[in-house]
Amino acid sequence: MTDNNIEIKERRMKFAGHDVTDLADRYGTPLYLMDEARIRENCRRYTDCLDIMPEGSMILYAGKACCFKDMYRIITEEGMGADVVSSGELFTALSAGFDPSKLFFHGNGKTDTDLECAVNEGIGYIVCDNEDELYALSAVASYCRKTQKILLRLTPGIDPHTHKKIRTGGIDSKFGSLICDGTAERLAVAASHMDGVELCGFHCHIGSQIFDAQPFVDAAEIMSEFCAGLYRNHGIKTKILDLGGGFGVPYTDSDPELDVRSTVRSIVDEVKRRFGDVALPAIMLEPGRSIVADAGMTLYTAGSTKSIPGYKNYVSVDGGMTDNPRYALYGSKYRVFLANRAGEKADFRCDVVGRCCESGDIIQPDVLLPEPKRGDLIAVCTTGAYNYSMASNYNRIPRPPVVMLKGGKPTLAVRRETVDDLTALDM
Ligand code: LLP
Repeated sequence: MTDNNIEIKERRMKFAGHDVTDLADRYGTPLYLMDEARIRENCRRYTDCLDIMPEGSMILYAGKACCFKDMYRIITEEGMGADVVSSGELFTALSAGFDPSKLFFHGNGKTDTDLECAVNEGIGYIVCDNEDELYALSAVASYCRKTQKILLRLTPGIDPHTHKKIRTGGIDSKFGSLICDGTAERLAVAASHMDGVELCGFHCHIGSQIFDAQPFVDAAEIMSEFCAGLYRNHGIKTKILDLGGGFGVPYTDSDPELDVRSTVRSIVDEVKRRFGDVALPAIMLEPGRSIVADAGMTLYTAGSTKSIPGYKNYVSVDGGMTDNPRYALYGSKYRVFLANRAGEKADFRCDVVGRCCESGDIIQPDVLLPEPKRGDLIAVCTTGAYNYSMASNYNRIPRPPVVMLKGGKPTLAVRRETVDDLTALDM
């Protein structure tokens, strides 16, 4: 794994050049850390591919992976667009000064309020998930006296061999309109004549945490065949082909690594082959996880250690499924360290568990650490994606702050929630 933002020396652990024990003392725990340099490096692995992509192509950051205002500053500076899936993400991007024309609004359950808000804010593109939403948007945009640029989300019918909860390209998916039964073609023809909308192209997203280039190439093939056929049969041009995100990230040493440039090259070659003599569209890619995952680390303070002889050991921490629900949801793997005694012999096998009243509240089972004492510092690596953004207040636990590590300077990007925040909405 590319782990050069983690350093262990003389029992101290550094992340992005910062001593994590010092950061925990200064900001408290639980604490999310984000390494700005790594985020930028990850962005550039994609933006560096624009030279092999058709003109007008763009990389869109999928904000659902980690969404707060400071992220949009970095994404703007890296020259990228972004995808949003709710009025909340849209509002976050806009309040950070993000250019609305570079935003794409996704999701299968946009409300009329979402649609109206997006149209009135001048969002670049709304990605219509299904027939019902297409007609709803046409009505909303016509009422607002606007013509909204749209893409149609299509279901290519692909199984990307990833966890079943994060597969989205299959025929039975809740997302998108089917190509294989003619729905996509019928909707494209209808949209091309519809009031209030301008059909600019098509979108698909087949799933997340995919390590193999082949499912992306298969999706590119099916989508491109569809677009080329649509032009030949109906004269409808595809200006934008948005092929979604899903690029896999290694969380442990045994996870593979996906080569971004060669994957993008294979996708682009496939699009060119299938479009043939039909004018090429701009291609959009929407990485989320692979922009932020390895730029993140979570710090916890160890609480009680409990041994059940003949069974197992538990180490409780001061956070849990409220700041990282990913093991509870997907059985996700993470590397865990005892950060203030790093380098000591790791011979204590234990489950690192959260503080919620729920047996499934596990950060990571079966890890080897030096036996933790109350007050020791536990670091969980590669938590930059789908941790802060999926955090909850279950058991009325306040969400941790996010500290952005930028050069020599840590900056508070999101402050710690307080108990007053938790009761602020109660009447
Ligand atoms: N575009 C669309 C339309 C998406 O739905 C997603 C992710 C992405 C892009 C970004 O995919 P990424 O590059 O991050 O894989 N909570 C799950 C992941 C859910 C992904 C949802 N959609 C997890 O923690 O693994």
